[in-house]
Amino acid sequence: MTMEEFEYSIDRLDDTDAIPLELLLLADPSKNSIEDYLSRGICYIYRTDKIVGTYILIKTRPNTMEIVNISVKEDMQGKGIGKRLLLHAISVSKEEGAMTLEIGTGNSSLQQLSLYQKCGFRIVGVDKDFFIRHYDEEIIENGIICRDMIRLSIDL
Ligand code: COA
Repeated sequence: MTMEEFEYSIDRLDDTDAIPLELLLLADPSKNSIEDYLSRGICYIYRTDKIVGTYILIKTRPNTMEIVNISVKEDMQGKGIGKRLLLHAISVSKEEGAMTLEIGTGNSSLQQLSLYQKCGFRIVGVDKDFFIRHYDEEIIENGIICRDMIRLSIDL
């Protein structure tokens, strides 16, 4: 079955919805930072018959927003949902009047780096040793040690 055959919606999480913690934890194993992001931003959820994707949008500086904790349920990855969430975040940020939308990912997150650039984000910086400073456990993806945070942004 192709994605086109699934009805879907992307909406703000409201008070009656349970926080999709399991999904948010896929993008960041730290519950503390998820709670901090949820208190500072707006969580959006992608639903078919159930919640399969999410992201949190935060205002970081004047005219600047950041996507954090974007994640798609493991068995639904690779079907274009992540791309739809990113494009949704771009259009919401534009409506909010932001001029820049940012996102960050690990140097070893090759699929994410590919997806974000395909959606128009450009690499604007490197926060060297970010993951070494902030995480106790070593992270290895694609055979690469995750050390640095690659910062990307798109002009809106
Ligand atoms: N190498 C390079 N590109 C790859 C790839 C690989 N191994 N696997 C997939 N891709 C590309 C695909 O080509 C696709 O692009 P296309 O639409 O042009 O073909 C894109 O990556 C995948 O897009 P999509 O299906 O929209 O992504 P998704 O629904 O799987 O969501 C994530 C992407 C990152 C949100 C999802 O994989 C996820 O939840 N990962 C775990 C949490 C996470 O790491 N979050 C990000 C924290 S920074």
